[in-house]
Amino acid sequence: MAKKNQDGYLSAKEARRISRENRRITNRMEKQRKRKNVPESEYLTKMRDPNNAVEFDNLHTYFFTDAGTVRSVDGVSFDVPIGKTVGVVGESGCGKSVTSLSLMQLLQRPQGQIVEGEIRLNLGDKACDVTKTPNEVMQRFRGNYVSMIFQEPMTALNPVFRIGAQIDEVIELHDTANRSKAQIRERTIELLKMVGIANSEGVYSMFPHELSGGMRQRVVIAMALACDPRIIIADEPTTALDVTIQAQILDLLRQLKNRTNASIMFITHDLGVIAEMADYVVVMYAGRVVEKGTAEDIFHHPAHPYTIGLMNSKPVVGKKVDALYSIPGKVPNPVNMPNYCYFRDRCEMCVGQCDGAYPPEAAISDTHKVSCYRYAGGKGGD
Ligand SMILES: Nc1ncnc2c1ncn2[C@@H]1O[C@H](COP(=O)(O)OP(=O)(O)O)[C@@H](O)[C@H]1O
Ligand code: SF4
Ligand SMILES: [Mg+2]
Repeated sequence: MAKKNQDGYLSAKEARRISRENRRITNRMEKQRKRKNVPESEYLTKMRDPNNAVEFDNLHTYFFTDAGTVRSVDGVSFDVPIGKTVGVVGESGCGKSVTSLSLMQLLQRPQGQIVEGEIRLNLGDKACDVTKTPNEVMQRFRGNYVSMIFQEPMTALNPVFRIGAQIDEVIELHDTANRSKAQIRERTIELLKMVGIANSEGVYSMFPHELSGGMRQRVVIAMALACDPRIIIADEPTTALDVTIQAQILDLLRQLKNRTNASIMFITHDLGVIAEMADYVVVMYAGRVVEKGTAEDIFHHPAHPYTIGLMNSKPVVGKKVDALYSIPGKVPNPVNMPNYCYFRDRCEMCVGQCDGAYPPEAAISDTHKVSCYRYAGGKGGD
């Protein structure tokens, strides 16, 4: 652990030591990763359940920074079943994006590294462990098997190219059917129509800045869907949009998913959105999954004090409250996680064992799991 002087700052000597140590760790990992001609046997694996599109299994993703090791994702396990929507919810900074970037293998390297665990990706006739899959192989899956709709459309769009050219390029990159330019253009226009852009021929030749935020987000969705992905990661896709546009985009995603039987991993800090979209819900707190279950489990029988707090902080139509409840306290520092329940310092429901080690996962039912001492030993809470 990093030693700090009495002001809480790292000394120059200490910072140098950390950065040397980081380089040693990340160089070793990068060397392993950059090997050429890695045999398939190293990364092929089996799904635990063939009905899952993705299985996160004890994933640990860390960032080796000069201020210390940030344990952004610290032992996350959950499944994304085929044809279902899994909502991943939690406060900003709890590791939602890092979890999805780990699946895409788009972590900011060399600092960001998966240090432990597996991410099994179902490819139909086989499965691979993303954490061990070489980049050149992974590149073939991005777009076709897994694709991501980013939070901020302008980061996914290039401001100097026309919309049509940008979507054409994505199709061309993954094209196995050897389509002509005209056929690709036709497919792009069809995609633009599919995401509800009426003037699709016109938009085809526009630049990103000529479109509104909602239209740009539709374009980004069209781009993400261009190659019929089996898994769509939507990372806060509606946060930057106003409410009516948000509702339209959610509708659109639902329709698209039903049409293609794809899976959606829907990331948000907004429980209202999750309630509308998700079949299953994963609640994350400080880099770990604190509770997971079906939407029914989580919304009607929330068990973890953090989930209960989130539910209470959600406005409910028709219910008059003086002030929205907000969970007091703040998330622990991811460089220096405590060795007891990460939520303890904010928890209003502590029991005797809470001072002990981080609570183990307890099963409330076949689908509903929670990591909290109130349920340890198979008992229900109150
Ligand atoms: N490139 C990075 N370098 C260092 N720390 C990072 C980086 N990306 C994310 N983190 C840290 O990882 C944690 C989880 O971040 P993130 O997954 O983006 O949260 P969110 O749940 O809001 O999507 C945060 O503490 C964040 O500061
Ligand atoms: S383990 Fe204890 S401190 Fe942690 S959430 Fe449960 S009751 Fe609260
Ligand atoms: Mg995020």
